[in-house]
Amino acid sequence: MSGRCEGRRVLVTGGARGQGRNHAVRFAREGADVAVLDIAAAEMETVAYPLGSRAELEETAELVAAEGGRAAALVADIRSLAEMEAAVGQAAEAFGGLDILVVNAGICTFGELATMSAETWGTMIDVNLTGAFNTVRAAVPHMYGSEAGRVVATSSMAGRAGWENIGHYAAAKWGLIGMVKSLALELAPRGITANVVCPSSVDTRMMKNEASYKLFRPDLENPTLEDALPAFQSVNVLPVPYAETDDISDAVLFLASEQARYITGATLSAAIGVNAKNI
Ligand SMILES: NC(=O)c1ccc[n+]([C@@H]2O[C@H](COP(=O)([O-])OP(=O)(O)OC[C@H]3O[C@@H](n4cnc5c(N)ncnc54)[C@H](O)[C@@H]3O)[C@@H](O)[C@H]2O)c1
Repeated sequence: MSGRCEGRRVLVTGGARGQGRNHAVRFAREGADVAVLDIAAAEMETVAYPLGSRAELEETAELVAAEGGRAAALVADIRSLAEMEAAVGQAAEAFGGLDILVVNAGICTFGELATMSAETWGTMIDVNLTGAFNTVRAAVPHMYGSEAGRVVATSSMAGRAGWENIGHYAAAKWGLIGMVKSLALELAPRGITANVVCPSSVDTRMMKNEASYKLFRPDLENPTLEDALPAFQSVNVLPVPYAETDDISDAVLFLASEQARYITGATLSAAIGVNAKNI
């Protein structure tokens, strides 16, 4: 199926790489104009792996343009409402408004709640929860005139259950669902929907890094991806270690499509069956 988003104006946060990049390219393939936004910074305090780079962000915009859509690359830290308003305002002006908002940017760090540093907790909430609010705050007013307004946010199966060693991530991802369900109620009179996608594990840098391998294989000194794969797989119900980014893009595109026009306030678990064990 193609052309599902013909002429739609889309903003994807966390678009330098990973799921965000794939969503951006898939939207462009469906006929959309896409602005991709990312912090484009190598490092963030408390995060053990590099974030998306400027070069990766530019490359995503090039991939969008190669699909034939208008493209924009925006650099902003979702923790800053001022930066978000400036960057998103620029894209909305260039596109003449926004129709689809994909609230995707995020980080993952590890630690037990009882011994976690306040900085690790605070950075998580600032990025994964307040950052999502800032994204909504900066973008949604530009969607008010849209005929097909859609907000799709990425939570996690950790937003549907407790999860040891990522309690701060779970708190932020549960909070995100509460925020989006509330947004669905507030935007309904304008005909704009707001929904959540909940992946379990996805083949991106967030999953594939040394800190993640160590969490899954604490018995080894320097575990590799190969060492961690069986442990990754043991989390999921279907026998695979992780989903591909396309699996999540399929869910996002569906919620953003005309087919989902009367679906709002929903959580869609694109989660390799982990959802079968909880809500
Ligand atoms: N990979 C997984 O296993 C998995 C599972 C469930 C949910 N998720 C969620 O999916 C979303 C996408 O993650 P991914 O898997 O593509 O990981 P990723 O690390 O490859 O991509 C995340 C992107 O977000 C950007 N980002 C981080 N903090 C930012 C900030 N403050 N401002 C702007 N941009 C920022 C990064 O630079 C990066 O490009 C995240 O919300 C994540 O929590 C991931």
